[in-house]
Amino acid sequence: MSSIISFREATKVFPAPRGRGREVRAVDGVSLDVREGEIFGVIGYSGAGKSTLVRLVNALETVTSGDVVVDGVSLASLGEARLRPVRAGIGMVFQQFNLLSSRTVAGNVAYPLEVAGWTRAQRDARVAELLEFVGIADKAGAYPSTLSGGQKQRVGIARALATNPRILLADEATSALDPETTQDVLALLQRVNRELGITVVVITHEMDVVRSICHRVAVMEHGRVVEVGEAYQVFSAPAHDVTRRFVATALRDRPSPAVLERLRTRHTGRIVTVGVDEVAGSSALITRVLREHGVDGTVVYGGITEVAERPYGSLTLELVGDAGAVEEAVVALRAVTLVDDHGRADR
Ligand SMILES: Nc1ncnc2c1ncn2[C@@H]1O[C@H](COP(=O)(O)OP(=O)(O)O)[C@@H](O)[C@H]1O
Ligand SMILES: [Mg+2]
Repeated sequence: MSSIISFREATKVFPAPRGRGREVRAVDGVSLDVREGEIFGVIGYSGAGKSTLVRLVNALETVTSGDVVVDGVSLASLGEARLRPVRAGIGMVFQQFNLLSSRTVAGNVAYPLEVAGWTRAQRDARVAELLEFVGIADKAGAYPSTLSGGQKQRVGIARALATNPRILLADEATSALDPETTQDVLALLQRVNRELGITVVVITHEMDVVRSICHRVAVMEHGRVVEVGEAYQVFSAPAHDVTRRFVATALRDRPSPAVLERLRTRHTGRIVTVGVDEVAGSSALITRVLREHGVDGTVVYGGITEVAERPYGSLTLELVGDAGAVEEAVVALRAVTLVDDHGRADR
């Protein structure tokens, strides 16, 4: 797959406010490739530089040094006039929707088409098609103030798609929405990617967003990319401390020390946590190993979820049986998956 956005040692420094204090290196020497046709996530805590990074892509900001190459075009070398067509090829959606309150839903979606000089008839047809695609055709004549957050973001997405961009940037697009609406909007972004073939860059501080739809992810801290890779890989083996903290917030399958203590008072057998993923430990494989050793395994904690549409999680089991058999079963489990052995309650 070829790269559609290429950051090359991209750096953005903001001067110190009113010349006092220190300058801010919002983006600090980032080199990164977003591949054509993927959903790419950028995750980081507030202030990490995520918004500045995406604003470099549609030239809302320009690099202090380095370059950003979009669709083969080096933005650092372009003047304002030649940046305009680059911007037109990129759609953007925002956390606060940024809809025009004085315009109807249809009027909001038509706005970029008016700017681009489409005729009335062309606009009407395109707006109808877009509202159908995002599922709010019945709201065409409504004003934004009468819409729910999820509906507003659908309008935002329709507007961003109006001029057929090849890239859609979503900056915290679901951060103002409740969890259920978030999933609906993420599903819509996934359709934008799959059905329209648009490359989607998702900025977020929520690992659940990455878990749900991103193919690959970059983790940012202090303006730098500290980790990048396949979402599944990053979840399975987070290399950086920040990444580990994010992963822990998205996967609540592992018992905390306090939970383990309670498990030990409720269960007298050997407590082990086994990793479940599509490669090593499928739950069927784990069950078979236990059966072969004549050991009973009862699930006492955990959960299996999906990361990038692949099974992922862990199960905490109480193993009960002959002490030797349990020992051998644990050894056999280690051969097929990651095992965290919490031992046996002292009785
Ligand atoms: N226009 C600006 N002028 C000065 N400082 C800015 C500007 N935009 C962002 N910053 C600073 O750059 C850093 C990164 O900000 P931002 O890219 O918004 O991070 P994030 O989106 O990850 O929260 C922050 O310290 C922020 O205060
Ligand atoms: Mg931001």
